This record gives sequence, structure tokens and C-alpha cells, in this order.
Amino acid sequence: MTPPKTETRSGWSRRNFLTTTMVSGMSLTLLERSRADAAPARADPRGPYKIELRVNGQRHQLALDVRTTLLDALREHMGLTGSKKGCDHGQCGACTVLIDGKRALSCLTFASMAEGREVTTIESLAAADGTLHPMQQAFIDHDAFQCGYCTPGQIMSAVACVNEGHAQNAAQIREYMSGNLCRCAAYPNIVDAIEQAKTQMKGA
Ligand code: FES
Ligand code: FES
Repeated sequence: MTPPKTETRSGWSRRNFLTTTMVSGMSLTLLERSRADAAPARADPRGPYKIELRVNGQRHQLALDVRTTLLDALREHMGLTGSKKGCDHGQCGACTVLIDGKRALSCLTFASMAEGREVTTIESLAAADGTLHPMQQAFIDHDAFQCGYCTPGQIMSAVACVNEGHAQNAAQIREYMSGNLCRCAAYPNIVDAIEQAKTQMKGA
């Protein structure tokens, strides 16, 4: 039996309509594909990028994920594990380093933010011959730590505290060291250590 014709008054048939639609769709697909082929390949934003960091007077060439923190760059990529990861949220101060001489929480600082600046970590404080920095020696003299986990951050913060002129008295030291927490509660000894070191640092 012959199928019924569906031709309209204008001469269009169902077959004409389907053929035209398919051809238009294929043309658009081919056009988009050729545009994609012509576009220059973009670098994967999740891929590592090259960065140079200057830490303790030495240059480090690294390839890092853009999201890498300065703390992770120091610990995981440069082997400088003196700076500690306590909270990783900017709350404890264990990760304190100096950037251009100012205190910075390296867990809240992207490595890229330190590019072109001078980063100083606890590893650089002692002299090459092993002589301790006055602040390190004072922490030992005053027994200013127990487990020691917060100590690198405490010492870096204390050095900056003295250099900033914020160690005039015990109350001021407590105020300006309040960003560095110590779970072992060595606070009175830390204040005593800073009082001792500040006189030697001035003379240094
Ligand atoms: S680890 Fe950075 S503030 Fe705690
Ligand atoms: S010495 Fe243990 S947390 Fe400070």
C-alpha cells in the first residue's frame, strides 16, 4: 500500500523539511568545530607555573600550583621545615615568617605573593658557625618552650616585635605577641626571653 503524500499547498513535504533541518545542523557543527580548531591552545590554568622565590638570601626556582601557600612552598618544595603548620587557618602563628622584614602568616600567603620579595625563615637566624641569634639563645636561657612546636613562629615574631619597637615593656610584648599561641602555655617565659634578647639585639 502506497504511503499517503503529505505535500502542503506551498510545495513543502515532510521529507523536504527533515532534509533541510539536518543539513543546517551539520553545517553549524562543522563551523563550530573549525572555529575551535583555529583558536590558539590555552595553557591549563591548573598546571604548574614557574616562580622564583628569594628565601634567606637564596634564589629558588620552582614550578608550583597557583594555589600553593608560601608555607607549603617552604616546607614541601624547598625542604625548609622550620616554619610549622599548626592550624593552616591564620589562627596560631606557628607559620610566622618575615617578608621584607615584616611578620607574615605563611599559611595565609600565596607563594606568588612573595615573588620579588625577601622571605626570612627561622633557618637563617643562627650564624654560619652555629652561634645562635640572641632571641634563640634567650628562649633557651629562659626555658621558653616545652614541646617546641610553636617556637619557630614565636621566635620570628619576637625578632620582628623587637625590631618594630613593640617590646618596650612586658605588657606591650604580650600585646604584640598575642598572635602567637602556645598550647604549652610558656607565655611568662617567652616574655622574659624577649626582655633579655631586646637589649642584646639593640647592641648587635
Ligand atoms: S599555621 Fe599559620 S597561623 Fe596557624
Ligand atoms: S612550646 Fe608547645 S606549643 Fe608552645
